[in-house]
Amino acid sequence: MKERILVMGASGMVGGELVPALRKKYGAENIIASDIREESEVFKGTGPFHTLDALDVAGTKTLVEKEEVSTIYMLAGLISAGGEKNPKLCWDLNMGSLRQVLDLAVEKKLKVFWPSSIAAFGPTTPRKGTPQKTVIEPTTIYGITKYAGELLCQYYNRRWGVDVRSLRYPGLISWKSEPGPGTTEYAVEIFYGALKEKKYTSPLSADTYLPMMYMDDAMAGTLQLMEAPGEKIKNRMSYNFSAISFSPVEIAAEIKKHIPDFKIDYASDHRQAIADSWPESIDDLEARRDWGWKHEYDLPKMTEMMLKNLREKLKISI
Ligand code: SER
Repeated sequence: MKERILVMGASGMVGGELVPALRKKYGAENIIASDIREESEVFKGTGPFHTLDALDVAGTKTLVEKEEVSTIYMLAGLISAGGEKNPKLCWDLNMGSLRQVLDLAVEKKLKVFWPSSIAAFGPTTPRKGTPQKTVIEPTTIYGITKYAGELLCQYYNRRWGVDVRSLRYPGLISWKSEPGPGTTEYAVEIFYGALKEKKYTSPLSADTYLPMMYMDDAMAGTLQLMEAPGEKIKNRMSYNFSAISFSPVEIAAEIKKHIPDFKIDYASDHRQAIADSWPESIDDLEARRDWGWKHEYDLPKMTEMMLKNLREKLKISI
């Protein structure tokens, strides 16, 4: 059967990479992007786009029927720091959008991808090499929606056989779109600071380690998960998904190798408490074992790619 894919919440940071990757793989006309926001500049004009509120049940159903959609990537949602500013909206949007997509998946036999996050873990979780199954007591509203969403995915799979697949994304590092209001996003902002002003004030302390991943790896893993035969998907909550782990002082040192007069200073804000409640590194043995996940980018290679691509994008020659 021909893949017809709807990407909801496509104008965010993940959509900015996922839509072009899917269009390349399955043909531009088969990838329908949608968002309540404007069409992302990153993929504007490269294929179909519809304005859609991820909570609009009737509108989503009409679009799925009209475009004969077979798979939905549901990316809409409010992330960590933004969620703390508006917890009610975070719960309503993150849970409502997932719930309606899962209901539609039951009715129309759709395949679903939904991203979870390292934010599902909390301060009582073991912080180093966090295993797949462990104590999970998230303290941010974003993390609560991720953990509840994981359980909902598993419920819809067990109860109605929905083919829903999910990854606990670490901090994703991308140059194509602007980062959203998150915590790990400092590791994207730092590159803009380095190139534009040769300085950056970190909202996290020098030694705050968090799990991170270059976006090319994340997209490769996402497509690999979605293409794996169903019997390989042993986990219908969300897979631990890991690549690298670094702290602000380490990423700054790596940037300095390319921009020697780059300066970092530290002024922890509300994001510090969020970061302190999350793991420092993740054990993703099950993803590697079940469907062959393998990352490619380490910190030096990621830094090189970020600087090279952002220099071109921002037309900066340092
Ligand atoms: N990047 C996200 C955040 O920091 C983690 O899922 O909010």
